[in-house]
Amino acid sequence: MKRPQHKYPFLLWSLLLIAISSCNGPAGTKTTGKDTTVAEAVKLKTANFQQTINDKKVKLYTLKNSTGASVAITNFGGRIVSLMVHDKNGVLTDVVLGHDGLTGYQTKPENYFGAIIGRYGNRIAKGKFTLAGKTYQLDINDGVNTLHGGFKGFYDQVFDAVQPDSSSLELTYTSKDGEGGYPGTLNVKVVYNVTADNAVRITYTATTDKITIINLTNHAYFNLNGEGKGSILNHLLTIRADAITPVDTTLIPTGQLQTVKNTPFDFTKAKTIGADINNQNEQLKNGKGYDHNFALNKHSLTQSVATVSSPNSGICMDIYTNEPGLQFYSGNFLTGKTHDGKGGKVYGYRSAFCLETQHFPNAPNQPAFASTVLKPGQTYHTVTEYKFSVNK
Ligand code: BGC
Repeated sequence: MKRPQHKYPFLLWSLLLIAISSCNGPAGTKTTGKDTTVAEAVKLKTANFQQTINDKKVKLYTLKNSTGASVAITNFGGRIVSLMVHDKNGVLTDVVLGHDGLTGYQTKPENYFGAIIGRYGNRIAKGKFTLAGKTYQLDINDGVNTLHGGFKGFYDQVFDAVQPDSSSLELTYTSKDGEGGYPGTLNVKVVYNVTADNAVRITYTATTDKITIINLTNHAYFNLNGEGKGSILNHLLTIRADAITPVDTTLIPTGQLQTVKNTPFDFTKAKTIGADINNQNEQLKNGKGYDHNFALNKHSLTQSVATVSSPNSGICMDIYTNEPGLQFYSGNFLTGKTHDGKGGKVYGYRSAFCLETQHFPNAPNQPAFASTVLKPGQTYHTVTEYKFSVNK
């Protein structure tokens, strides 16, 4: 049988590729006609987020823009608790995993849901590094390595919070000299903004009084089908990176850059997260799935470094950052058994993905990687935007 021939096959393919590899129209332009606050939509009880921890008051803050998109943040760990955006039918959908109250964040096995990660995002080999001739030993909290700031990283600290207006929140924290083994008193400021065009912008700044290292990020666990709505393997993902930093079996980068070409790590054109995740590949084995730093081709606040979308909800997210790396983690350690979340929903195996903007893991021990050293007199400054829209 002869297939029907199209007059403009190239044009059609190009349009399709554009449609699936980048987000289009702004999300949130359609409203439900109801003023749905975050607290109502996800039934978060603000009382469950009011507590005194480390002698500091903890609360839940809600940030909104005029389209109705909103983010709820607790100053315990600076965590994003919910992130509500409109889906293709105009329904507000919570796209991040989390808990119903502070107790969940203090007792459940996953420490990092939505949290600010510091002082150092991802791993440092054996928790050791040398700076200005002195060797420092950090907490060993992940096998033989340190991960995400150690046993009492920023995810476990209370930030001071000021809400200057309804769409932003300023969080500050002073990390004492020697905290977690890191040198220098570090003054950190993290500002969250929900912009008019539906981006959650996170601006990180920090200064120190002694030479130190720093690598801050946010650890939101996303599911663009809606949190608790199954696996993320059907999401379409593009990462604009031609190389990854391959890792050993303890997930420490070997120091090399490895091309993604002809490997399961090639997300330079949109493909589903699940397409190659179970391939026989040494790097996938080491990560038990994707758990790798992608070396971004360009890192700028004007060009998207990664695009991900859900065919179910139509929700699409673009990431903008001035960081050189992006950790893509495919939720390989979510078990479903004890990973229960908001509204008692079960967060099963690979039911979320993380895209953490960062400098490369273990950079303090890899002279070839961009430096993460911060000196007195310098100001650390990075910006990341998660921008939402809908594919209809
Ligand atoms: C790490 C994973 C880790 C996850 C949750 C990611 O940034 O790379 O190995 O399991 O965070 O802690």
